[in-house]
Parts: sequence; C-alpha cells; structure tokens
Amino acid sequence: MSDNVLHIEHLTMRFGGVVAVNDLSMDINRGEIVALIGPNGAGKTTAFNMVTGVYTPTEGHISLMGQEITGRRPDEITKLGIARTFQNIRLFSSMTVFENVLTARHLRRTSNFLTATFRLNAAEEKKMRQETEALLKEVGLYELKDEMATSLPYGKQRLLEIARALSTQPKVLLLDEPAAGMNPQETEELGAFIKQIKDQFDLTVFLIEHHMNLVMGISDRIYVIDFGKQIAQGTPAEVQNDPAVIAAYLGVDEDESGLPVGDPRASAQAAPPEARGPQNAETRGAKGVQ
Ligand SMILES: Nc1ncnc2c1ncn2[C@@H]1O[C@H](COP(=O)(O)OP(=O)(O)OP(=O)(O)O)[C@@H](O)[C@H]1O
Ligand SMILES: [Mg+2]
Repeated sequence: MSDNVLHIEHLTMRFGGVVAVNDLSMDINRGEIVALIGPNGAGKTTAFNMVTGVYTPTEGHISLMGQEITGRRPDEITKLGIARTFQNIRLFSSMTVFENVLTARHLRRTSNFLTATFRLNAAEEKKMRQETEALLKEVGLYELKDEMATSLPYGKQRLLEIARALSTQPKVLLLDEPAAGMNPQETEELGAFIKQIKDQFDLTVFLIEHHMNLVMGISDRIYVIDFGKQIAQGTPAEVQNDPAVIAAYLGVDEDESGLPVGDPRASAQAAPPEARGPQNAETRGAKGVQ
C-alpha cells in the first residue's frame, strides 16, 4: 500500500448525455510506467483531465500518495506533484525554449501567472534560472535554449513539453500521446527517453499513447478502456492476448505508424495535431474494427 502513488476509484465523468469515463478504477505504484489505452474517444484524455483538476469528476475519487485530490484546482495538484503534457502541444509560441521551461518552473512556486513572473527576489530568480539550465542539459535541449519554441522540429517540441512538465518537479508525470506526430525513429528514442527520465527524476509515469510499439515496449502494466469503461488490464503480454482488447482495439493490422490500419492519424503522423482530423467518437468508424 505504501507503494501506491496514484489511486483512482470508481471515476465517472458525464458531459450531458455522454458518459466519457464510466466507473474507472486504477492503481499506479511508485516507479511504474502505466499506460491507459483505448480507441479514439474512449475517455483517456478525460481521465487525465480529472486527475489534473481540469474537470471535477461526476463521481469517484482520486488520491495522490494517500491524500485525496478529487476536485482540487489544477495549480494545487501541480504543487502536490502531478505534472502533465497535452495531446495538442501547448507551448508559449512567443517564448524561447529556455523561457518556456522557466515560466513553468515559476508556476510550481505560485498559482498566479503575474506573481510568478514579477514577484521573485533576485536570489530566487537566479536559482530558478540555474535549475532551468540544468534541466535543459539533462533532457538534451540546452543547445536549443535560445531558439523560439515554435521554430523547433516537431519531435523536439514534444520533448520541450516534457521538460516543462519536469520543471514543476513532479512525482507523477502524465503524458498524453507524447509520440503523436513523431516518426518511428523519434518514437523509439522517446521510449528510451521516458525510461531515462523516470529513473533520473524518480518518477512514476502515467502514459496515454496510440503507438503500440511504444506502449508495449515501456509499460509495466496497461489499462484498456473503450467507451469510458475498463475492458482489460494487465502486463503488455496479457493485454495483447486479451480477446476483448483484440476486438476493441488491437485486432487490426498495424501499419508502420504503429496505428491500426484505417486510423485517420496513420496518414497524419508527420503533421502537427492541428492538421489532424477530429479525434473523438465520430472517428471511431474509420479504424476498421467491427
Ligand atoms: N468537454 C467535453 N464536453 C463534451 N464532451 C466531451 C468533452 N471532453 C470530451 N468529451 C467527449 O468524451 C469522450 C471521450 O473523449 P476523450 O477526449 O477523453 O477521448 P480520448 O480517449 O482521449 O480520445 P483520443 O484518442 O481521440 O484522444 C468523447 O466522446 C468526447 O467527444
Ligand atoms: Mg485524448
């Protein structure tokens, strides 16, 4: 029990008539990489949004290291040790790589953007700048620190998003489709990178991802949801062989993108998220699973 970091109990999120997440329970232990997978619109991002305080669950509870965090504000949850990246990259486009990470580091300290930016004493500011430089070196982005964030290649922008999350000094790191838009080589490198930062920063990782090679390669355990409900959980080997998973999600051939044939994203792997089509329940018919 003392090993438990994130406990999710009977979590449900309704949007009007849509039950996006339906009675989901999960446990994630310290040092694990746990994946949440499922078809488009299954409710994965909604689960992240509840854990990070973006949405208050309609029902259910979330605890971080034994402390209930259900319904707390996002900035409070960040301070308690949960950081995330977003499915659609959210960098500050008018800032450099360094400034993007520094700003996120400030937000760990205060809840208010303006206070965060202006009310620091010189010693604190210097320390944060040094920490930001050290972090950029650790994640291999230091050489690019003065580049504008949006001028980076797409794969590097994804790494910058992770660096921003790390700068809040989390215990649990939530990654929402970190490999989206990456080519196969970048995806493979990302897998190694996630394992490396997990050890380096003593993290527990909660991962949403559609690239099955990545998920199966780095996850200790996997939860599978469909239409908001858990349909399977277990080790990668167990999940891969689970008939319910095969029927819902994995039972189609994958092309080189790692996505099921017919998945609308397969043809959009190299494109930024904005260029991709909608990823919700409406796209499910295109994935070829009947
Ligand atoms: N704010 C909202 N208001 C209404 N419906 C929503 C809202 N957010 C999500 N949904 C709906 O909830 C369901 C789950 O969406 P969610 O984004 O969690 O899926 P997902 O598993 O992350 O999908 P994808 O793999 O495409 O990112 C979908 O039917 C979606 O349209
Ligand atoms: Mg999503």
